[in-house]
Amino acid sequence: MKIELNQNKVFYNNGSEKKEIHPFWLRERVNGEEYLDKGTQQRLFDPTSLSSDISINKANINEKYLEIDFNDGVTSKLEIDKIALEFSKEDIIIKSIEKTKWDSRLKNIKNFQYQKDFYESKEMHDLLVSFYQYGFVIIKNIPTSKNYIVEFANSIGSVRRTNFGEYFNVKSKPEPNDLAYTSLALAPHTDNPYRNPVPCIQLLHCIESKVSGGLSSLVDGYTVTEELKSKFPEFYNVLTEVKVRFRFVDKEVILENISPLIELNDDKSFKQVRFSPRLDYVPILDKKKLDLYYQARKKLSEMYNSERYRIEFKLEPKDLIMMDNHRLLHGRTAYETKEGERFLQGCYIDFDSTEGKLRHLKRKFNL
Ligand SMILES: [Fe+2]
Repeated sequence: MKIELNQNKVFYNNGSEKKEIHPFWLRERVNGEEYLDKGTQQRLFDPTSLSSDISINKANINEKYLEIDFNDGVTSKLEIDKIALEFSKEDIIIKSIEKTKWDSRLKNIKNFQYQKDFYESKEMHDLLVSFYQYGFVIIKNIPTSKNYIVEFANSIGSVRRTNFGEYFNVKSKPEPNDLAYTSLALAPHTDNPYRNPVPCIQLLHCIESKVSGGLSSLVDGYTVTEELKSKFPEFYNVLTEVKVRFRFVDKEVILENISPLIELNDDKSFKQVRFSPRLDYVPILDKKKLDLYYQARKKLSEMYNSERYRIEFKLEPKDLIMMDNHRLLHGRTAYETKEGERFLQGCYIDFDSTEGKLRHLKRKFNL
């Protein structure tokens, strides 16, 4: 991209087209120290209070800088490289990490090791990149004392508290308010589709595991969605269109969210899956449409529950798994409580935690 000048107008030229940059857009970006706080990078003025007829009295390109005198007396020196960066509409850090589709054949995925100064390390950067590629990552050797999972979450970003508390203990208990707190098998599901917004990332930390069962399973909702789209486009369409009601009820709260099973971005790319067939209620639609919806949901469920897409593994004590709850489904096999204790702790964090940390580590290590 090139910046060009013509009669006090500034243009950008991306090779195929040349367009004028609005003078107000440039005025908003003045960065002298009386206009921009260097520490926070926040404006020291409110652009909505400026006169709207801002124009340019003089513009000049001086090596890497664009120098401008505006008609309100303000002068500015803007880095051309920084202006160019703003023309990329995408979030260049997170979106540039391509998702790797995977199924039951996934092998040799790197596990990370907890170590001293972990949260500020290059290892932490690599871990987050791997997380965005695969939708999950396993970290070994995480301390198990004093609900360390909360410290882990808060060292990446901040824990997302819910009505289950800051963190939750996953073990079988009497009178459970969720099947997670039994020793029954759990079919692949995403957590908490009834929340608004749905927690982005689940952390699960194995404290104790003396049982032979209780294997963890994961399914890549992104892989399944893409396959459904190519093999069963009608099913894909109805599942992206029809919004269903997810609901959670207990003595203290009623949580509800109305969303499709497969949610897309504005550009129709994959955004998020929700799947928890004990909690979803489709609205009354035309019988024909519902016919299609039920067939589609059944097919989706068959795919999510098929061995073809599932990986299964055992979490050992001190292992912590971080899972993208908008992309992956997780489950577990049943276990026998007589064999001994199985005890996991869980909590949620949101994408601002991992994204913020990753951007920070890229800046820190100049990556
Ligand atoms: Fe779950």
